[in-house]
Amino acid sequence: MTMNTLSCSPQSMSSSCPTGIRAPPRDANRYRGRVSTQQNGRVALVTGTSRGIGAAIAADLLAAGYRVAGTSRTGTAPEGVLGIAADITEPDQVDAAYRRVEDEIGPVEVLVANAGITRDGLLAMMKDEAWDDVIGTNLSGAFRTVRRAVRPMTRARFGRIVLIGSVSAYVGTPGQVNYAASKAGLIGMARSVAGELGSRGITCNVVAPGFVRTDMTDELSDEVRADYLKRIPLRRAAEVGDVAAAVRFLCSDEAGYITGVVLPVDGGIGMGR
Ligand SMILES: NC(=O)c1ccc[n+]([C@@H]2O[C@H](COP(=O)([O-])OP(=O)(O)OC[C@H]3O[C@@H](n4cnc5c(N)ncnc54)[C@H](OP(=O)(O)O)[C@@H]3O)[C@@H](O)[C@H]2O)c1
Repeated sequence: MTMNTLSCSPQSMSSSCPTGIRAPPRDANRYRGRVSTQQNGRVALVTGTSRGIGAAIAADLLAAGYRVAGTSRTGTAPEGVLGIAADITEPDQVDAAYRRVEDEIGPVEVLVANAGITRDGLLAMMKDEAWDDVIGTNLSGAFRTVRRAVRPMTRARFGRIVLIGSVSAYVGTPGQVNYAASKAGLIGMARSVAGELGSRGITCNVVAPGFVRTDMTDELSDEVRADYLKRIPLRRAAEVGDVAAAVRFLCSDEAGYITGVVLPVDGGIGMGR
């Protein structure tokens, strides 16, 4: 689509502009180059920063100029990130973590809900506990974290929320009924939040990694790992930095017109689903 064929001049009245697409004003170039990829000073909270993908996201946002806080049950976070011990299955701990971030670095403008767990097993043998733990952490934990974020974001009329989902949500993974269900739930949550809060300048998106080299996937057998690699068009596992780069984009001011999307970072394994 080119502006020349489908857009109308900025001056044309809507009745004479059948496509409704307006060309940018002539002096739009004046504004190019003003947008910085360094998001200076915005406050970001990332959950699950003690290792793996969450640690990489926190370090990456820090390097991009954010003031970053990171939570995990141990409170460990990369150097330069405000580390806070908080279990996302405990509403009081989530609230206390937010209060500490607000006191020490300011209201959260960017939230990355990354903390997650697996408790794999075949459906027929899966214990209620394995179901409850995974749903309680991955879905209910994300819900609590997002719920606590939105009031200050609404007041600020700005917010970026990124939920770390998984390709399992839409391809399904045998042995991960609980995990896939929790990650599919995040997609419905993100789209509902996007619809509810878009008018307040808050975006909510899901980043869906495929197979990423972390402690979580180190638990897989060599056989399962080899099977994954065979099916990934890019023929490699993702590095944590691949996921962090996609998250950084969706957190940026520049991504302000993107909401309710699922962005796969999966080497193509889930394409078309
Ligand atoms: N690795 C992959 O291939 C892959 C693929 C798709 C999606 N993902 C998703 O990406 C996210 C990160 O995965 P990862 O591979 O980096 O996992 P990981 O290495 O196991 O790290 C998980 C993080 O979540 C934290 N966490 C777990 N339960 C928590 C709780 N109740 N409260 C607070 N923090 C908690 C852990 O910290 P503590 O243990 O210190 O609390 C840790 O920092 C997860 O949501 C995962 O589902 C991963």
